Amino acid sequence: MFKTTLQDMLGIEFPFIGGTMMDISRAPFVAAIAEAGALGLIASAIYLDEASFRDDLRAVKAKTKKPFGVNINLFPMMRKLDNLRYLDIMAEEGVRIVETSGHYPPDDLVERIKKHRMTWIHKCVGVRYAKRAERVGADAVTVVGFENGGATGILNVTTLVLTPTVVDALKVPVIAGGGVVDGRTLLAVLSLGAAGAIVGTRILLSEECPVHPELKQALCAPTSCRPTSSCGPSASRTACGSTSPRRRWWRSRPGAPGARSPRSTRTSRARRRGACTRPATSAPARSPCRRRWASSRR
Ligand SMILES: Cc1cc2nc3c(=O)[nH]c(=O)nc-3n(C[C@H](O)[C@H](O)[C@H](O)COP(=O)(O)O)c2cc1C
Repeated sequence: MFKTTLQDMLGIEFPFIGGTMMDISRAPFVAAIAEAGALGLIASAIYLDEASFRDDLRAVKAKTKKPFGVNINLFPMMRKLDNLRYLDIMAEEGVRIVETSGHYPPDDLVERIKKHRMTWIHKCVGVRYAKRAERVGADAVTVVGFENGGATGILNVTTLVLTPTVVDALKVPVIAGGGVVDGRTLLAVLSLGAAGAIVGTRILLSEECPVHPELKQALCAPTSCRPTSSCGPSASRTACGSTSPRRRWWRSRPGAPGARSPRSTRTSRARRRGACTRPATSAPARSPCRRRWASSRR
């Protein structure tokens, strides 16, 4: 097995990061990723209080002696997170690796990471953000292309284009992802200069991943968007434009709330053709823009 700088930096056996997944990346799953020789990341935003966060860090340590990390969420949240406090708890529990993702990391957070001498990986979606993270002291930068599952931010740059651009622009190791699902795609990002790969959607299918078995089935099933029955191309973002595999699975259940009925599909197709689909008896269009549009069609 080849070796990259990432393995030495993180103390892992394979150049693989199991991507943080909200509501999924808890202790048993993260410990399983660590035991398999990759880097697992606890999603700190899952925990509603400090005690349950600390308990889960301890639970990972009880299951594995291998390194693992914690993701600090910098996305806008309904619930305010005390990320500085989370960092202190991580330091107290001996966690040495932190990943930040979402918005740009604020100065006080960077200071706290440096104070605790943690290895810091920042995950982002563009070369500008990657350079900025390197400038303020990130030890490695993860970049994810449009294929990335979940919602790390959208610049719509593909992994194939983004990875070499960022690799050329940075001195620190680059981890790349979005659509990495097997040996071929791992080799692809390594050959583009990445020191490792981040993988999310593919490991949703693992036995240890605590998502519903029906979701795993749905991700493997052949669809018009994914023409093969293998779990090949990243199921996270496909040509059909849906962003979340969970959401697609949820909507696809028969009778599910929010499920797309044949009627609504017909309606949106008609709308795309420019046909007026508003029934004659329907209430008047509400927004000024809609009113203008409606009157232009009369
Ligand atoms: C179900 C799901 C939830 C995710 N949740 C988060 C999250 O909370 N925070 C985050 O930074 N990335 C999240 N991600 C992104 C992953 O960490 C990783 O970057 C991505 O899955 C890699 O792309 P891939 O899915 O094509 O392998 C999520 C991905 C998935 C599939």
